[in-house]
Amino acid sequence: MLDTAEQRRQRLVEVFQDARTCSRCDLSRSRTQVVFGAGNADADLMFVGEAPGAEEDRQGLPFVGRSGALLSSMLEEVGLSRDGVFIANTLKCRPPANRDPTATETETCRPWLHDQIRLIEPIVVATLGNFATRLLSGDPTGITKVRGVPQVRTLGSRTVWLFPLFHPAAALRATGTADLLRQDLAALPALLERGLPAPTAAPAAARTGDGAHGAGTSPRGGGPT
Ligand code: URA
Repeated sequence: MLDTAEQRRQRLVEVFQDARTCSRCDLSRSRTQVVFGAGNADADLMFVGEAPGAEEDRQGLPFVGRSGALLSSMLEEVGLSRDGVFIANTLKCRPPANRDPTATETETCRPWLHDQIRLIEPIVVATLGNFATRLLSGDPTGITKVRGVPQVRTLGSRTVWLFPLFHPAAALRATGTADLLRQDLAALPALLERGLPAPTAAPAAARTGDGAHGAGTSPRGGGPT
C-alpha cells in the first residue's frame, strides 16, 4: 500500500522514467519524445486530453500550445492554478499528422494513465473533448450532451468523478464554446469539495478503459512535481 504522498510521487517518477523509453506501439517510432504529462503528483484534479500535438511532441509537455494557454488562463479565472493540477493525455505519444488514435494505441497506452491515476489519487478526472470523454466514460454520447455533468467512473483501480469538458482547442474556435467551457470549469471547486464518490456507483462498462501521467523532475521532460 502506497500511503504517503511522497512515496506516491517517487513511484510516479519511476513510472515516468519507464514511460520515456516506451516502445509498446508503433508511435514510439514516429514520436520525438514521450509526453507523459506534467503537474502536481498529489493533485485532486487531473485533466486528460486526447494526444500530444506537434508542439507537445517537441517540448515533451502536454498542452503547451494556444489551447494550453487558454486552459491555464481559464483555470486562473476560477481560482485554480495549473501548478496545482496534473495534466495528461490518453496517448503519451503524438500520432503522425495528428490523426485520431487507433483502438490498439489507446488500449496499449491505457496502463500508463491507470498508473498515473492510481498514484496521483485524484478526486476529479476532467476529460477534455470528445475523444478522451468517450474513451474514459465508456459512453459514445457526444461532448455537447455530457459536458459539465459529473459521472462516476472507475479508471483502473480508482473510482473518481469524471467531468467532461469541451476541448480548449474547440473553445479557441467559437466564443460560445469558450463561454460554456468557462462555465463548466467554474463548477470544479464545488465538485472537488464533494470528495470521492462511492465506488459502487461506477458502471461496469467504464472499468475497462482510460490513461495519462506526469512527474515533476524536469520542466522540459514533464512529469510529477
Ligand atoms: N491537445 C490535446 O488533446 N493534448 C495536448 O497535449 C495538446 C493538444
